[in-house]
Amino acid sequence: MTDHVTPPSLEQLEERLKNIDTLDHDALEVESIAILGRKSGALTAALRSIPTLPVDERRSFGAAVNALKARFEEAFEARRSALEGDAGRSGLSGDLSMPARHTWMGAVHPVNQVVHAILGIFRDLGFSVATGPEVEDEWYNFLSLNFPPDHPAMDMHDTMYLAGPSADPQNRLLLRTHTSPVQIRVMQGGPPPYRVVIPGVVYRRDPFDASHAPAFNQIEGLAVDEGIGFVDLKATLTHFAHSFFGSAADVRFRPSFFPFTEPSAEMDIRCQLCAGTGCAACKGTGWMEILGCGMVHPRVLENAGVDSERYTGWAFGMGPARMCLALYGVPDIRMLYEGDVRLLSQFAGAPE
Ligand code: DAH
Repeated sequence: MTDHVTPPSLEQLEERLKNIDTLDHDALEVESIAILGRKSGALTAALRSIPTLPVDERRSFGAAVNALKARFEEAFEARRSALEGDAGRSGLSGDLSMPARHTWMGAVHPVNQVVHAILGIFRDLGFSVATGPEVEDEWYNFLSLNFPPDHPAMDMHDTMYLAGPSADPQNRLLLRTHTSPVQIRVMQGGPPPYRVVIPGVVYRRDPFDASHAPAFNQIEGLAVDEGIGFVDLKATLTHFAHSFFGSAADVRFRPSFFPFTEPSAEMDIRCQLCAGTGCAACKGTGWMEILGCGMVHPRVLENAGVDSERYTGWAFGMGPARMCLALYGVPDIRMLYEGDVRLLSQFAGAPE
């Protein structure tokens, strides 16, 4: 039994073929069944009508219907994928002409970039890296380093103590005020020679102003061996300054005082901002103070259990944040610690 459906004329079908491109998703499926449906689709009806045609028309009519069927199938497919593509694109990102959003990349903080650069220079000279605790006792932080017991730096008002007064300096805990106590810990850890650099955070009762912060980074250095003299200190630190600031950098050593070194010195670099003519950053002197240094005091060696008759050494301490200010010409140390991405992002691509 065959359903009796009057087949549309081939001209009508051609018309409907042209309209497929305008159909939406639902109308497309309805039309697809109306044309290709195996039971009552228009093309099926046309094929079924062949036996009713005069014999000499059947072959060409059949061929025309089959050709039309292929074109319909192609047109439905094309329209389907066009609709899917539109839906996929608009579903994902809306306005396709909008510029892509910038991705945020984390970066090493400029002060840490400077720390890494400094450690790298000393690593190339054969120094290894050591670290120590940020909570120290009064013996490590002051007394072992030859601070006299009545030194004002030990005053409760000058240093951040963690516990109340105690008769025993090893019970008086404090936030370390410098990385120098790690010198003692390194020397206690095994026999000389030592060549170490010691990065770390230190704490002081300082105001947060253009050149001070209550918590800041330091890098300590220590070299102890037989026959080490002041010339080794000068040569090594001059080499360091040239590696860090460039070979044209000018340095000078000035006499200074630290309880744990004798003699002691301060190393300055010719001001990187004004080239020595005098500006606000160098307070008109033309020089910037970079680090403190000196020959390790024999009493410090003895306090750490090192034979000061046999061994000598030199040490230094510097602030990487100040080095960062000097290197990049940042006028205020607070700018480095505020976390303002407008400043920090400028260092995102700086070499390590
Ligand atoms: N500890 C000193 C400070 O914080 C810096 C310093 C100076 C360290 C001279 C040293 C040194 O090792 O020899 O101000």
